[in-house]
Amino acid sequence: MHHQSEITDSKATIISTRNLGGEVSLIAFTCPDIARNALPGNFVNIKINPSNQPLLRRPFSIHNVDGDNVEIMAKNIGGGTALLCNASAGTAIEVIGPLGNAFNIETPAFSTAILVSGGIGTAPMMLLEKHLKAEEKEVIHVIGGRSRDDIHTRGLNNCHIATEDGTEGFKGNVIELLRNMIGDVMLEGPVKVFACGPNPMLKALAGFSQERGLSCEVSLETIMGCGIGICYGCIVELKNQSGEGTSSMLLCQDGPVVDASRLII
Ligand code: FES
Repeated sequence: MHHQSEITDSKATIISTRNLGGEVSLIAFTCPDIARNALPGNFVNIKINPSNQPLLRRPFSIHNVDGDNVEIMAKNIGGGTALLCNASAGTAIEVIGPLGNAFNIETPAFSTAILVSGGIGTAPMMLLEKHLKAEEKEVIHVIGGRSRDDIHTRGLNNCHIATEDGTEGFKGNVIELLRNMIGDVMLEGPVKVFACGPNPMLKALAGFSQERGLSCEVSLETIMGCGIGICYGCIVELKNQSGEGTSSMLLCQDGPVVDASRLII
């Protein structure tokens, strides 16, 4: 997992917002400094209201970078997210980023990457796919949700879908789909799994990866207030890297990406 060196606090301008269905919107804003430094797995912290209400700062995974523009996916859960999802082009926002660490796409050596995501957890997978493709890795997406409205495949190639209600793709969860796929698909060379989604899914995936001896990194979801180590809202308990005992860490500082073997399952 790689850490950032250049974090900027910038004024940015929204250039477009587009509803992708299921309360999720794609929001693009111009911010050259963040666009230049963003790595897959990084997030940004956005303040939309010009007043000084800290509660309206919210973290969002970086979905894509296109020239000077940064794209995020936001789920409208009211408050600041509603303002953001409904913002018109030209709205000024304040953005801190890129924050957090990134997925490690170099080690251990692998040739096929399986990107597992659930719900809004699919947001960082587009930038991750781009970086993996640039390294000539094979990329397979496994995407899950309760229903077809929870599935967002924008910008992604080679997607395998699982929905719990069977309205799209495989009927079941992503772990069941993975068991099916790895059972009958020949994977070329060593595999590494990258995941982002609800924590129960990530824990199940950690168990699955352990069982199959697969290297796996997960981006954990937590409540992030400030994104910069001040509010302590993002504290999680993880196994120590040594495997002995556990300790707590601030996900916004030392995460959100951690090795799946560190999850307490
Ligand atoms: S989000 Fe505030 S300390 Fe991590």
